[in-house]
Amino acid sequence: MPLAFCLSLLAVLALTVVMCAVLIARQRRERRAWREREAQLASATDAFALGAFTLTAATKAVTFDDRSLLILGIPQGERHRAFDYFVEHLHPDDRARAMEKYDALVTGPLDTLSADLRLRHPERGWMWVTIVLSVVERSSAGRAMRLTGVFRDITTRKQAEEALRLDESRLSALLTLNGMTQAPVSEIAHFALEEAVRLTRSSIGYIAFTNDDETVLTMHAWSDTAMRECRIKDRQFVYPVAQTGLWGEAIRQRRPVITNDYAAPSAKKKGMPDGHVPLSRHMNVPVFDDGHIVIVAGVGNKESDYDDTDVRQLTLLMSGMWRVIERQRTAEALRASEENLRITLDSIGDAVIATDAGGCVTRVNRVAAELIGRTPDEARGMKFDGLVTLVNPETREPAPSPVARIIESGTSAGISSPVVLVTRDGNERRIADSGAPIRDADGATVGVVIVFRDVTDQLRIEEQLRQAQKMDAIGQLAGGVAHDFNNMLGGITGAAEILATKLGHVEDVRHCTDMILNAAKKTASLTQKLLTFSRKGKIQSTPVDLHRIIADTAHLLERSVDKRIKIVCDLMPGKAVIIGDPSQLESALINLGLNARDAMPAGGTLRLATSSVRLDEQFCQSSGFPAAEGMHIELTVSDTGTGMTSDTLRRIFEPFFTTKEFGKGTGLGLSAVYGTVKEHHGIIKVYSEPGKGSIFKLLFPAAAESELPEHKPGPAIASAGKTVLLVDDESMVREVTSSLLRHFGFNVIPACDGREAVDIYSARRDEIDFVFMDMVMPRMDGRDAFYALKKIDPAVTVIFSSGFSRDGTASGLLEDECVAGFIQKPYRRDELLRVLSAAFTKGARKRRDHPRASVRDEDDD
Ligand SMILES: Nc1ncnc2c1ncn2[C@@H]1O[C@H](COP(=O)(O)OP(=O)(O)OP(=O)(O)O)[C@@H](O)[C@H]1O
Ligand SMILES: [Mg+2]
Repeated sequence: MPLAFCLSLLAVLALTVVMCAVLIARQRRERRAWREREAQLASATDAFALGAFTLTAATKAVTFDDRSLLILGIPQGERHRAFDYFVEHLHPDDRARAMEKYDALVTGPLDTLSADLRLRHPERGWMWVTIVLSVVERSSAGRAMRLTGVFRDITTRKQAEEALRLDESRLSALLTLNGMTQAPVSEIAHFALEEAVRLTRSSIGYIAFTNDDETVLTMHAWSDTAMRECRIKDRQFVYPVAQTGLWGEAIRQRRPVITNDYAAPSAKKKGMPDGHVPLSRHMNVPVFDDGHIVIVAGVGNKESDYDDTDVRQLTLLMSGMWRVIERQRTAEALRASEENLRITLDSIGDAVIATDAGGCVTRVNRVAAELIGRTPDEARGMKFDGLVTLVNPETREPAPSPVARIIESGTSAGISSPVVLVTRDGNERRIADSGAPIRDADGATVGVVIVFRDVTDQLRIEEQLRQAQKMDAIGQLAGGVAHDFNNMLGGITGAAEILATKLGHVEDVRHCTDMILNAAKKTASLTQKLLTFSRKGKIQSTPVDLHRIIADTAHLLERSVDKRIKIVCDLMPGKAVIIGDPSQLESALINLGLNARDAMPAGGTLRLATSSVRLDEQFCQSSGFPAAEGMHIELTVSDTGTGMTSDTLRRIFEPFFTTKEFGKGTGLGLSAVYGTVKEHHGIIKVYSEPGKGSIFKLLFPAAAESELPEHKPGPAIASAGKTVLLVDDESMVREVTSSLLRHFGFNVIPACDGREAVDIYSARRDEIDFVFMDMVMPRMDGRDAFYALKKIDPAVTVIFSSGFSRDGTASGLLEDECVAGFIQKPYRRDELLRVLSAAFTKGARKRRDHPRASVRDEDDD
């Protein structure tokens, strides 16, 4: 062998030895390091209570350390296991995820995986482990060959986390429940139940409420799944506790009841109805309120066993729900009682205002809102004293605030004497107030409630009643006086006439008898008005169409009042029929018209209107007149004149009350109107303010139109071209009668007394067809004038009128053939027409017998 070759071989050998030595040394180092690592790992696993294992990827052989066996519940000595042991014990839900991660680890490039997984412990059931698996050695192809793993039991931590999650979930559910302030109880129960099912990982659930003595359960909600799966036909809602099976135990035992093996036989079971959702597990809890079971809530069919966590979650959630329901019910009851209070307060006729202790308004009822002219919302929060203005009716000084009074005294105050409440729009109402403090549970005054009674109408009615009583009393007095007066007047006039007949030729006596008769005439007209006022006069009772009376009166007034006064008739369509006395009604209307005329010295508008109104009982009662409810004709006489002060207004119906200057008014006009209205069972109301004119409203019970007698046109008189000498000392009578006569077609020559009549007649006797003459007049009375006229013209035709009755008129005179008729004042148009027509017939007859003398007698001398 050549040396060179030997040397080479030696070198190679030496190199090989050296390399081997190096390799061995490295291997030793590595083993030492491995052991060191293992030792470190072991101490680490010890320190952290970790289980450790190794895994050979190719054989899937696992070797557990002692602690692993302990954690996993594997008997000691069985440390070598197949990898499948792991896989089999994994929770089905975690399996796929775990295998995916493992495969990724084996193929690389990651060398470590970590995961939290559920493993089944042979005794303890599911447990949580956190596991870290690392690749120790890979093949040249990069596949993992040897792996080591460590793991730790984290069940307690997971349970705590789960409990926390459930708590959070429950709290969020309770938060939602708390927000369901407007939801009905059924909706609240349904929501809570779905949450309970979710929190306890159940699939069905129910909520039942108990009655007061816990003997009956009433179903309030079933979970959606239960409803879907339930096939019971007639589902029962009410269950007597005594008849319940296992689920009634929660009430009977007064504690939560868990039945994790529902299929197991139990003496407490009473069987389920056909179609009931099959139950595998069940748990229910009673919910207490003040020691009383108010709810039984149950869940069922959780996949795993129910435990204390579920009991806790269900109990807490349901207690929370009950509090929400209770709060809801309390709020609802409060709302209902608030609504009841509002309805009650709004339905009473008195005004109620409540304030807080500071006098700020907290509540205002409907009547109060109307009284003060503000809506309750506007009034709320305002100071009572700023809202309500109270004034002393006599002094007009501000009245003390009832709120301050009650807050100060702290005691209730009875009804006060009426004060004036000035409303927002300036109107005044008379009110009487009472009030009481509102106290809290400790008796401290926290507010005041004030009750106002609007006594304006009551006071007005009382005043009207007083007025009516006063008027009745005056009426009786006046009636009695007027009656006696009338009789005495009869005596006076009779005696004066006898005196005139016997001693009339003595000028002085004649003068005296004229004065007596004149005064008696005036007195008689007053007495007549007084009698009308006291309703002692004779009154007709026939159906009358007020429209005819209005038309006649308007016609009369048109001719007799200042042309600057416009008379407007505004009558309802058709007739306005009432039962009454036409002449009384006419003179009432004339009186009202004349008053209006006097109130409009510079002109204005007098309006006469009618309408048909139905009076209700309340109106009649408050009217102060004994009126009956039903249809009425309302006659309105209004003017645009001076108006009246309230003082005048209060007294206008009193006899002899007048504001007119002495001699101009008797103050009996409206008294007579008042008497007429009362006589007709009517009502009279007056509205007037200074400068704003006056409105008189007369209401008469309406009668049927059919009651009206057919209107017969008055007898036709051949009046055309005929001339009447009208003699009356009263200018009003002259004006009124002239206008009537002209209306009938006559020419009228007026004369203001006998003397003037005689003068006119003697000058124009050819023109004059007849004389219409008053009996009692100053200067020359009717009788003297009559004889003077007869002297001028023995064929003179005279019609007498007198305020005295025919009987009281000088006997013999009316029987004279020149007297064609007599009419008693006051007369109406129809009556005048009748007398005229009779007089014409008589006059024509007479003229045939005694043609008019063509010569004048004495006057010619
Ligand atoms: N339309 C009116 N406008 C204003 N004041 C009136 C009106 N009607 C009546 N009065 C007042 O009522 C008072 C009483 O009226 P009444 O008719 O009773 O008496 P008179 O008119 O004064 O007198 P007489 O009617 O006897 O002429 C009147 O004086 C007047 O003050
Ligand atoms: Mg008058």
